[in-house]
Amino acid sequence: MLQQLDQIEQAALEALEKVNDETALEQWRVSHLGRSSPLMKTFDQLGSLDKELRPAVGKRANEIKRALESNLAEKSQLLQQAAVLRSLESERLDVSLPGRPVAHGRLHPVTQNLRQIFQIFAEMGFQVYRSRDVETDEFNFQLLNFPPHHPAREMQDSFYIAGEYAEDNPLLLRTHTSPGQIHAMREYAASNPDNPPPVRIILPGMCYRYEQVTARSEIQFNQVEGLAVGKHITLGDLKGTLTDFARRLFGKHVLSRFRASHFPFTEPSAEMDIECFVCGGKGCAVCKRTGWLEILGCGMVHPVVLSNGGYDPAKYTGFAFGMGPERIAMLRYKIEDIRYFWANDMRFLEQF
Ligand code: DAH
Repeated sequence: MLQQLDQIEQAALEALEKVNDETALEQWRVSHLGRSSPLMKTFDQLGSLDKELRPAVGKRANEIKRALESNLAEKSQLLQQAAVLRSLESERLDVSLPGRPVAHGRLHPVTQNLRQIFQIFAEMGFQVYRSRDVETDEFNFQLLNFPPHHPAREMQDSFYIAGEYAEDNPLLLRTHTSPGQIHAMREYAASNPDNPPPVRIILPGMCYRYEQVTARSEIQFNQVEGLAVGKHITLGDLKGTLTDFARRLFGKHVLSRFRASHFPFTEPSAEMDIECFVCGGKGCAVCKRTGWLEILGCGMVHPVVLSNGGYDPAKYTGFAFGMGPERIAMLRYKIEDIRYFWANDMRFLEQF
């Protein structure tokens, strides 16, 4: 009987050697460890054996059962590993193939420039104040000290809008961001009319002028206006703020100068130039041989404008400025035609 068991074990182990897939392994399990396998039948027969033989046969049969089970487990693991290796091999991914290029979007050059300007003023404590594109004549001109028929209006030919309005107060697309100064001051002043809080804002946005489109002028363009109002603001603050701005935008060694100018809503008024960074001030085509590039208009807020905004000019002073980011981008990147900005030509846009 014990000999028979040895043969059963040997036969089973030999058969297991030949198994090389999961199906065959399952068949092997059924025939060598299943209910009607020779080994299991031995257990059934134990009862009919001689009493003295029983323990030895039973012990041996159990040993074989455990041995076959552990061989089965080992084989099953080997087969699984082999299957994983096979699938790694057959489903191999060739990562050396070049991928399809991803089309990257990017920010428009003017948006990039605007964000840089916002960043610089944010660091100086200026918040962004958004104001409307459609204005009344009153806000776009009158409250900014341009009375009707004032000659300074001639520089800002306007797009008027059909609609209902008072005879002397037509609707128009704003010709500059300056009307936002009045909206902002009135909003701030309303929070505490007897002692209005200080203002420190920039007002970015599109402006519109009814002009001939040329390489230098578009009918639609951005401006960034700035406004600071408070109790002890001086021309020195204006110069310091804008000189610092120019250094942060154009480089810390840039020279700047202020030239007297005129705007109805500031007094005194100035234009700010920076030294031409193309020729270093010697004179070239970009600076029209002057050595200087104009970058913005500015001045101390006119007392009439302060009081139109709800700020008593006897107690408050302020400065304001206005710049054209497209013009500044043209200077920085030597772009010779302003029309490129809104022409949607990928050959232009992809360069930024
Ligand atoms: N609004 C002026 C323009 O469009 C630009 C400007 C100049 C704005 C001087 C200002 C300023 O706030 O102080 O031509």
